[in-house]
Parts: sequence; C-alpha cells; structure tokens
Amino acid sequence: MEKSLETIVAWAKRRGFAYPGSDIYGGLANAWDLGPYGTEIKRNIEHVWWTYFVQQRDDIIGLDSQILMNPKVWEASGHVAWFSDPLIDCKKCKSRERADKLIEDTITSKNMTLESIQAVVAVTTITPEAWDFEQQTTFLTGFKVKCPKCGSCDWAEPKKFNLMFKTQQGVIEGQGTDIYLRPETAQGIFVNFRNILDTTRSRIPFGIAQIGKAFRNEITPGNFMFRVREFYQMEIEYFVENDTEKGLESFEAWKNASKKRWKEEIGIKEENMRFRDHDQDELSFYSKGTCDVEYLFPRGWGELQGIAYRTDYDLKQHMEHSGKDLQYNDPYTGKRYIPHCIEPSRGLTRAILTALIDAYDEEKYTDGNGAEQTRIVARFHKNIAPVKFAVIPLVKKDEKIVGFAEDLYRKLSKQYMCEFDDSGNVGKCYRRQDEIGTPYCITVDYQTLEDGTVTIRDRDTMEQKRIKPEEIIL
Ligand code: GAP
Repeated sequence: MEKSLETIVAWAKRRGFAYPGSDIYGGLANAWDLGPYGTEIKRNIEHVWWTYFVQQRDDIIGLDSQILMNPKVWEASGHVAWFSDPLIDCKKCKSRERADKLIEDTITSKNMTLESIQAVVAVTTITPEAWDFEQQTTFLTGFKVKCPKCGSCDWAEPKKFNLMFKTQQGVIEGQGTDIYLRPETAQGIFVNFRNILDTTRSRIPFGIAQIGKAFRNEITPGNFMFRVREFYQMEIEYFVENDTEKGLESFEAWKNASKKRWKEEIGIKEENMRFRDHDQDELSFYSKGTCDVEYLFPRGWGELQGIAYRTDYDLKQHMEHSGKDLQYNDPYTGKRYIPHCIEPSRGLTRAILTALIDAYDEEKYTDGNGAEQTRIVARFHKNIAPVKFAVIPLVKKDEKIVGFAEDLYRKLSKQYMCEFDDSGNVGKCYRRQDEIGTPYCITVDYQTLEDGTVTIRDRDTMEQKRIKPEEIIL
C-alpha cells in the first residue's frame, strides 16, 4: 500500500497523535505537539529502550543532564566552529536552501551516477554533504539546479550557517552571557564522565544513556516530524579500551544490535530498514567508522539512527578545554588512558514518526452483511500501542453489564493504558480503536453475567473469542 505523508499527517491530527504547535495562533512552522496518543507512543518507545539498555544490561547506566550548558562545552566539542550547514540564497526570490540537500535531491530525481557528476565536478563521493563549497557551487551552476520556490538558477555563494540556537543567561538585558540550547544530548554525557567514574562502580567497557530534548535551527525543516527544530534524542556513549581493534569489534556489535532492536522493540518491518556505512571520505578525521540505520519514509530513505566510532576525540577535547583529567585507570592492568567511544544515537521524535508510518494500514474486508468495507488499522507493536485494551459494555442501559465492564477496566488500568467506551455502537468502537492501534477490544454482554466470560477481539485478524477476564494478558 502506498502511504503518502499527507495521509499520515491527516490521520495523526485527526486521531490525536500530533497537533500543529501553537495551533490556535496559526501554528509555528514545523513545530508539532504530541497529542494524547503520540505522548503514549513516546513514553512506550522510551520505556522499551531504557528497560533493555539501562535496566537489563549491567554495563549501561542512565543520566539526565541539563539542556543549558557552559558555552565552553560547545567550543570543546567543535559545535561552535563546525556544527553548520551550507546555506544558499536564491538571488531572485531570496528563499534559503541547504545546498547539500538540494544537490542530493537533484542527484536522486535525475538518477545521476558518480561518473556523470564527475564529468562536471571533481568529487570522489556521491554524497554532497562531504563536498566543499566550491564543489557544491560547481554542481549548482554546472547542472543548472533550479530554486524549488521560483525556478531561477541564480544562486549566491554557499555560506556556513551554524545550527545552534543562541540565547542569553542573566537578568539584565544585553549584559547576559550567550549560551546555547544543546544541539545533542551527547555532550552532557561526556562532561559527566569523571563524575560517573568517581561515583559508580562502572568499569570499561561501559555505557551512559540519556534521553532528552535537542534543538537545531534547521535551514530546511519539514516532512512532518522528520526534520524539526526541537526534538528528542536517545543517546548512548559506550566507552571501550583505547584500542582500535577492540573499538571496531564493539562498533560492529552495536551495528548488529541496533537493527534488531528497532525490529523487536518497536516492530519496524525489516524490509523498510537498511544500513548505510559512510564512505571513508565522509568520515570526520577522528572517526573510525559511521553507519546509519535508515528507514524508507514516504519521501525516500532517511536516517533513523547514527552509530559512530568516535575514538577518544570527545573526551580528549573536553580534557584539553576543561583542564580536568578524564583518563581512565584500569584497576586490573594499571593502565591509564583516554577511552575510545562508540555512539549509537537515535532520534526519538523520528522514531515516533517511523512508528506511525510503519503501522498505518488500510485494509479491505467483508462485513457481517457481506458488504465490502475498508478500515484504517494501525498495526503498532504491542510494546508501543498507545492503548492496550478497550473495554466496551455491549448494552449501555444495563447497569450490571456496565458495572462489570467498569470494574474490569479499573483492574486492567492498574497495569495497562486502557480505554472505556460505552458509546453504544460496537462497530464504531472497533473502527476507532483500530485507527489508534489498540491490540485488543474486550466486550461485556449478557453472557458475561451468566458465565463470567467476555469477548476479546484481535485488532489484526478481527477474530473474536470468549475468555475469562483472568486470562487477559498482553
Ligand atoms: N550525538 C550525535 C548526533 O546527534 P545526529 O546524527 O546529528 O547525531 C542523531 O543525530 C539522531 O537525531 C538522528 O539519527 C535523527 O534520528 C535525530 N535528528 C537529528 N536531527 C533531527 C531533527 N532536526 N529533527 C528530528 N530528528 C533529528
């Protein structure tokens, strides 16, 4: 089934997964608030991730660091100098684009090969993100790339645009210190490395996990929640010995684990995911490898997660800039060194979008009267479905039936997110619950009062069977 982004957005708004931010004031471009069901999906994704990595693994611990950090952090990390995108202005209509993305779109839409590009631009990779400004300009002019807004080919020179949001700390206007909203959660982990070593029994290899908000002043946000300016990340910094061979082993292990986790935790279909190893010339000078887990979004493949082997770069930078010793003392060998680090970094906001797209389905079926019907069904993995059970009294005028259903709902709600629906029309209730992806609907009727059984209906197969309430499990 073809799923357009427009269909997904309309469904997400209609069913309370996401709303345009500041809606009653006309919205704020590319800002999305999570509605009640989107919020549940977010909590569920966080929960399965945290449970697997932090609760069940002995070698990873959690952290919750600040969004606002000392500005020196971002000098040390390289964000002040390097965290920028190439911005180009259309001289005619003054619209602004990201040069590398515009080139990438041109390459994809025209099905260009590296050879065909090399006939005009001296590049060694087909990834424009890795090209310099001169190469990007040559491509734009050489292939007469048009402005998507007005069709002109008259571009100004690309310039660096830093993506960090700046704000001021301090109560006197104009006299405060410039600080940044963090553009990633990772640096909060690096700056706490010493604290973690000093206060926990962590021994190399070990990881630190954090979930939180990040902010980036993206030049071309869009595609619903794919690229936004305020979003959640789930990051781990996994510290290993300062030995490249061991680091690469750990990097491979993280790559293999990652795809499996997307499938098992969130239920993302394997055929919609792929790994993309970065070419050597896409890597930063300190990196020994980067691999993206990508998903086939309606507008094409896009990054879900980046897994990077960052060597000792970050700790070394913070050690130099802060003057604090961030070396590790191996208690067994007596060796003292700056650990290497593997960084599996996921976008949580992007994971929510992926879960919505992957789950959305439209299915034809024949109803009880033999008529062909279409239903929208969100086939969320049970782990992340926003509502797990809907309890429906079939006869809303019968106090005993309603009372039984209410008791059952209260009992199940202690363990699961549930809904109680006594609106009366069971067919409508099923359709509504299918659309929000509730795995099971439970109906209470006259037979319940006789033998204590209820009917449980499976969202995916629509099969119904009678069971005892104590047999209800997810
Ligand atoms: N610390 C490494 C880091 O931040 P990244 O590849 O820039 O790496 C990690 O970001 C993940 O965060 C991405 O794989 C993506 O899922 C998510 N992400 C990045 N920018 C985003 C944006 N503007 N909107 C939504 N998600 C974003």
